[in-house]
Amino acid sequence: MTAPNPHATQAEVDAARNDPKLANVLYHDWEAGTYDEKWSISYDERCITFAVDRFCAVVPPGSSPPISGPYEHALELGCGTGFFLLNLMQGGIAKKGTVTDLSPGMVEVAVRNAEGLGLDVEGRVADAETIPMPDASVDLVVGHAVLHHIPDLDRAFREILRVLKPGGRFVFAGEPTRIGDLYARKLGQATWWATTNLTRLGPLRSWRRPQDELDESSRAAALEAVVDQHVFDPTRLERFALGAGAVDVRCVTEELTAALFGWPVRTFEAAVRPEKLGFPWAMFAYRSWQRLSWLDARLARVVPRGLFYNALVTGVRPAPPVSP
Ligand SMILES: C[S@@+](CC[C@H](N)C(=O)[O-])C[C@H]1O[C@@H](n2cnc3c(N)ncnc32)[C@H](O)[C@@H]1O
Repeated sequence: MTAPNPHATQAEVDAARNDPKLANVLYHDWEAGTYDEKWSISYDERCITFAVDRFCAVVPPGSSPPISGPYEHALELGCGTGFFLLNLMQGGIAKKGTVTDLSPGMVEVAVRNAEGLGLDVEGRVADAETIPMPDASVDLVVGHAVLHHIPDLDRAFREILRVLKPGGRFVFAGEPTRIGDLYARKLGQATWWATTNLTRLGPLRSWRRPQDELDESSRAAALEAVVDQHVFDPTRLERFALGAGAVDVRCVTEELTAALFGWPVRTFEAAVRPEKLGFPWAMFAYRSWQRLSWLDARLARVVPRGLFYNALVTGVRPAPPVSP
């Protein structure tokens, strides 16, 4: 595994503007070392509960194998630092794992995190469009915030169905809906503009991040337009899975007020010096997000699913009929 370049140059950023996969490698190699901190990712009760709750939110209760019974071997696509699968494994969803990502830097961090947790996990650099695993070799395929980066989703879903054993399941969470992405982006841009301008002013100047860090964030933002390939209408997401031959396909959505609150908060955190916020702020942000998520779960009974920010999708590779 090659050591990633932590800071892409302007020339590399320019080269990646028309190449989504190169952009993904540059952007995520760049982010790998600070990703857990940036997104408040941990491998403790808070994130275990978050990951398992996402899984249970979309997998129908009573499905086979039961949620409480662990899957033998799970594969994660676009693992990043391992947030989803490592926490699912700690939550008892799978026994053995393979973490894969297009970015060597991310795979390196994910494997290191798994070793630190004592989990049975191997890592591979891999493109989700050409998964380097034999047919029918895993029981579960998972991913979090990865599908929207993959240019050819028909191909990726065919690969997912190919590597799953008959009866095996896939679960993807954290995908932006078309409408959710629109309001999240607008709120993020407005918050970035307001915070970076307000922190130029006298008393707030000590809150401002150093200019080189802000410039780096702006360079990263230029790549975001290339790495983000899709936003989803829930039915379109279901169609990709059905088109590849999956059955029992189901897409649910979540986070409406939680996203309207969460995106400005995350953008604000990225624009100011972290030491100015500290633990009380982190608890305020997390508890508020929890309360709003509770409210959103109630709103989901009456609000159309396309208005929520996050889409989750699951389905199963059909098993051959059992002969009498
Ligand atoms: C937004 S990050 C999410 C990381 C992690 N799953 C999480 O939720 O924290 C998306 C990840 O998908 C990876 N990725 C992008 N395109 C990919 C592809 N074609 N195949 C595999 N991984 C890909 C990126 O390198 C990145 O690590």
